[in-house]
Amino acid sequence: MFKTKDEDEPIKVDSDSFKFQSPRGMPDILPDDHCYFTFIKKVLRHRCRQAGIQRISTPVIEQTDLFRHTTGETTDIVQREMYTFEDRKGRSMTLRPEATPGICRAYLEHKMYTWPQPVELYCCDPMFRYERPQSGRQRQFYQFDAEVIGGENDPVIDAQMMNLAWNILGDLGLGENIEIQINSIGCPACRPKYREQLVNYYFEKQRALCEECKERLKINPLRLLDCKNDDCHILAEGAPKTVDHLCKDCKDHFEKLQEFMTILNLPFKINSTLVRGLDYYTKTVFEFWGAEHGGQSALVGGGRYDGLVEILGGPPTPAIGFAAGIERLIAEMKSREITVPYKDKVHVFVAQLGHDAKKQCLPVISELRNLGIHTMNSLGKSSLKAQLRLADKLGAEWAVIMGEMEVQQGTALLRDMRISEQQIIPFDQIVPVLKNIFPEEVRDTYSPGEVVRGVKVETREDGEEEG
Ligand code: HAM
Repeated sequence: MFKTKDEDEPIKVDSDSFKFQSPRGMPDILPDDHCYFTFIKKVLRHRCRQAGIQRISTPVIEQTDLFRHTTGETTDIVQREMYTFEDRKGRSMTLRPEATPGICRAYLEHKMYTWPQPVELYCCDPMFRYERPQSGRQRQFYQFDAEVIGGENDPVIDAQMMNLAWNILGDLGLGENIEIQINSIGCPACRPKYREQLVNYYFEKQRALCEECKERLKINPLRLLDCKNDDCHILAEGAPKTVDHLCKDCKDHFEKLQEFMTILNLPFKINSTLVRGLDYYTKTVFEFWGAEHGGQSALVGGGRYDGLVEILGGPPTPAIGFAAGIERLIAEMKSREITVPYKDKVHVFVAQLGHDAKKQCLPVISELRNLGIHTMNSLGKSSLKAQLRLADKLGAEWAVIMGEMEVQQGTALLRDMRISEQQIIPFDQIVPVLKNIFPEEVRDTYSPGEVVRGVKVETREDGEEEG
């Protein structure tokens, strides 16, 4: 009954002849990794919704000056990691290396300071940094970023943000072997004095510093503390500590933060060399480290940045946030052998032979899909054997088979692929039988929610001319 013609011979291609590859450090995200992305995004969305944090998306590209003024002229990011280019009108634009500046820009641009404060926002979007690609370090990577902007400058918010990050990691199965490191790097009132002490400490020891740190000593001495070079690291251990030079307000903030973290059962360690590589931080800085990467890269990084909105021309605005690299989370999950639900299982494969069978199968496939039964086919293939082999490769649980004879008899074969047994059923029973096999609770149905009619959609002129 089945015509056999080999249509599924593997295609042989010489990969040396391929002309293009994805840009270095910007890997494709293949379906298997998307299972992790989907799972992580679901966790993020739920945790944010529970805490009243709403989603925002800002453009991938911003004016270069935004990052210069916020992330900081002297940071590695601005000095050598930005993808910067001129647009067609000669304006300097940059692919965002991090989300915080764009979100603060949006906060001001949309007058969010007139909304109930604080404004709590999150995004999960790609960022771009021209770094040397290595494990845990890509040139395009996804960040989950959460920010609380406005309201009070209270350490209880700092603790709650860390609690959010902690809960997210817990939901991902990463609750154990995570180290939370915290520090306070002071504020514009106390930092200049500390800076002076730090420069004095290093002045005599300059010769022992790596070339980069010699330069940092002139422009951004705090960064000397987190240099990974062995000699610099030893010197940093003996350097004056920020926490010993805090003003009363910062000291009080840091002490209360620790109290709140203890109440929330957040295990933490004070790391006096933690300063973070971005210029805008004030008071609290923190990082979450996984156990599996040999101390190479933090999973989460964040801190308070009470001066940033003002730098952008806004009112004095306390703010705090953090970001987590999604690829790093996935790597950590994989190295701990944490798997996520696989939602793309093929329930049914519909195989057919001949033009009439194809016409009959088409509405059945559509109906099964609408019911939430994952249904695949290869209606373009003419060999039944090849179609069934494909069904097998795809891991389909059931196959509906219609050959010329079945069309004539108004029947179909229903094959249980797992035990290779089949039965003949009337054609009009395919859908009801499969509905029984796949009851509602295992089907992939969703509801987009109710659409409310009659709501006037406001439109607004866009001030920017077309570039
Ligand atoms: P960040 O420490 O530069 O902070 O990045 C945060 C997280 O993004 C890192 O802990 C890491 O998981 C991930 N990440 C950074 N660079 C890469 C890379 N090249 N490849 C893969 N993952 C990477 C910020 O970006 C701040 N904006 C965080 C923040 C939000 N502070 C306050 N609010």
